[in-house]
Amino acid sequence: MAVTWTASPSGSTADWYREFAEVDVRGVSPRYEVLCLGVAGDAEVCALLDSLPSAKRQPNLLLAAVRFLGGPIDAWADFRAFVFDRWVDVAQTMRQRRTQTNEARRSSALLPVLAGLPQPLALLEVGAAAGLCLFPDRWSYRYQTGDGDHVVGEGPELRCRASGPVPLPERPPEVVWRGGLDLHPLDVRREQDMRWLEALIWPERTDRLAVLRAAIAIARADPPAIRTGDLTVDLPGVAADAPPEATLVVFHTAVLAYVDDPGRAAFTTALRALAVVRPVCWLANEAPGVLPQTQQWRGRGRARVLTRDGLPIAGAGAHGDTLDWFE
Ligand SMILES: C[S@@+](CC[C@H](N)C(=O)[O-])C[C@H]1O[C@@H](n2cnc3c(N)ncnc32)[C@H](O)[C@@H]1O
Repeated sequence: MAVTWTASPSGSTADWYREFAEVDVRGVSPRYEVLCLGVAGDAEVCALLDSLPSAKRQPNLLLAAVRFLGGPIDAWADFRAFVFDRWVDVAQTMRQRRTQTNEARRSSALLPVLAGLPQPLALLEVGAAAGLCLFPDRWSYRYQTGDGDHVVGEGPELRCRASGPVPLPERPPEVVWRGGLDLHPLDVRREQDMRWLEALIWPERTDRLAVLRAAIAIARADPPAIRTGDLTVDLPGVAADAPPEATLVVFHTAVLAYVDDPGRAAFTTALRALAVVRPVCWLANEAPGVLPQTQQWRGRGRARVLTRDGLPIAGAGAHGDTLDWFE
């Protein structure tokens, strides 16, 4: 039921890299822009990439694989030479690994709802990757609003620009249970998995790297149990472990885009069945249009729409850096 990209957005590998350079990374990562334009203009590198399954030719995978292997990213000629010299390793890394960016700052979008629920909470994240979003209670949050900063919680700081009538909480939630589910869980105790998460962060985003390292330290102190499984099938089994006296929250961020329509329908059916057995709060932080209720925000400059039990309540930045509560 999982969906992966099966082809470049517009056909050839060269087109894919050019489009990625000009649309996705321009203005954000000058180094990646140069490298992706280099790939797009180099028939020999494109031929190497074309030896991989189409879903594995993704720009983000190649760039992260080269960095994971310690390759150079400051000049196209050096990058190209590394890809040729180390192609066996690069290709193996691209085949084995996936883009599983795990961004703890996305907790900033969830916190106002989590803190307002009856406490304590049992948190169940589907598509959890390494489970770095399962610790919303271990950070301090600085919400920057038009009326000044609002700080809540203790721990390393997460910053978020907030607008609209956000119900900013006075204290963080109390979490008594954390569980995760992922098709391919990453393990915070495995150095290689964490190096891979670092390699997925674009090189100029040192702010995100700092958050990632803090999140890894938090999770390593109390490693979350992330089960291998498919959210379209295995939700009931994980939910059965949540303590009955806690408020169960099932949430996902940047996940359902990877799941096809029948899979999304199976997941919401499983959620409804779960809600018959016990109260559940369902939080989704997904790209506009991933859930039918958020269709109207497509193409309107919002990276994510936060829904609570299917109802849109806020817009959010892709990595949790902004939160715009709806009236
Ligand atoms: C982009 S990552 C997001 C990780 C985390 N939710 C976050 O926001 O930081 C998407 C994750 O969803 C997982 N995933 C995709 N389809 C899934 C499915 N059908 N069942 C379980 N996990 C899935 C992937 O393996 C990946 O780890």
